[in-house]
Amino acid sequence: MAKAIFVEIGGGFDHVVVGATEAAAPKSGEITVKLHACSLNYHDYVVVSGVWGPSERRIPMADGAGEVSAVGPDVTEFAVGDHVVSTFFPTWLEDEPIVDSFATVPGDGVDGYAREIVTLPATAFTHAPKGYSHVEAATLTTAGLTAWRALFVDDSLKPGDVVLVQGTGGVSIFALQFAKLAGARVIATSSSDEKLERLKAMGADHVINYKTDSAWGETARRLTGGRGVDHVVEVGGPLTLEQSMTAARVGGHISVIGILTGVAGEIPLLPALVRQLRLQGLIVGSRKHQIEMIRAIDAAGMKPIIDKSFALEEIVAAFRHQESNRHFGKICLSF
Ligand SMILES: NC(=O)c1ccc[n+]([C@@H]2O[C@H](COP(=O)([O-])OP(=O)(O)OC[C@H]3O[C@@H](n4cnc5c(N)ncnc54)[C@H](OP(=O)(O)O)[C@@H]3O)[C@@H](O)[C@H]2O)c1
Repeated sequence: MAKAIFVEIGGGFDHVVVGATEAAAPKSGEITVKLHACSLNYHDYVVVSGVWGPSERRIPMADGAGEVSAVGPDVTEFAVGDHVVSTFFPTWLEDEPIVDSFATVPGDGVDGYAREIVTLPATAFTHAPKGYSHVEAATLTTAGLTAWRALFVDDSLKPGDVVLVQGTGGVSIFALQFAKLAGARVIATSSSDEKLERLKAMGADHVINYKTDSAWGETARRLTGGRGVDHVVEVGGPLTLEQSMTAARVGGHISVIGILTGVAGEIPLLPALVRQLRLQGLIVGSRKHQIEMIRAIDAAGMKPIIDKSFALEEIVAAFRHQESNRHFGKICLSF
């Protein structure tokens, strides 16, 4: 038997238990993976903390990375010993989005990767980037791919473009890194002056404290000489969208990604119309998008920013750390 974390129906940190699972021998098209790392996302937080708890007993965590320990018949893409990372939508392999819920997402609608071993269709994984540790690879499934898709799939970022990223969580830090990789300029916000210094050290061209500057969208626009930013990586939601629209250039692209300030609110529509903004909702991306992202990471040698790693059994402490918003980049589980 192998160790696994379970969240009871409805979730809640008091309803997280350590248990055991087994993995069947892989059948045709399947692989067995010895998992060694997960990374935490806001989505995992809402499942485990009970904000949107599971409707059945669930193994949490959408992002898992590890080593292939067995391959079933007909598997040609992977061999024993390969390092792999999970995909957010095991059934959305390529082409246009086909999913509009979390019913197939590991750690939400189906069991996830807070466990030591799993057997699944090989298509639920991709190769990890070369030279990545398991912890580093586990950061990519949700946060990495969301930032990638926002900038390179849903829009076509190019050198000289200006990207605005909000806060210093997983998605935003990846967006900063990908934007710099593509030769873009980055305006980054945070509630913490200390984190703003770290953003500058990572290459952010301008930084704004969104707590002390409530008109940060205006400030961002001014920093572009009045033109406005090309892409906004919108993770805040209802309380940030208005400022994001203020920051955007005419025809600018706003990736509607996050709900950190809630799921509903009053949004003025006129700026969207007058500026002819392109607001586009998204949920992570396809397996093909992940393969393309990893090809770029391999080419650039980019590494994720890991804030802190916890043991598998310390999963609640890890989420409490996330809840505190003290983190910068990704929080991980290493086992
Ligand atoms: N649609 C998708 O596919 C998708 C994928 C991944 C994540 N998301 C969503 O994106 C959001 C971020 O996810 P994450 O995993 O990156 O979260 P995370 O790592 O927990 O990030 C939290 C950080 O966000 C910043 N923040 C909080 N409130 C903010 C506000 N009002 N304005 C600007 N920044 C704020 C804070 O940064 P500072 O401490 O620097 O202020 C905080 O540390 C969540 O709502 C999540 O559900 C969506």
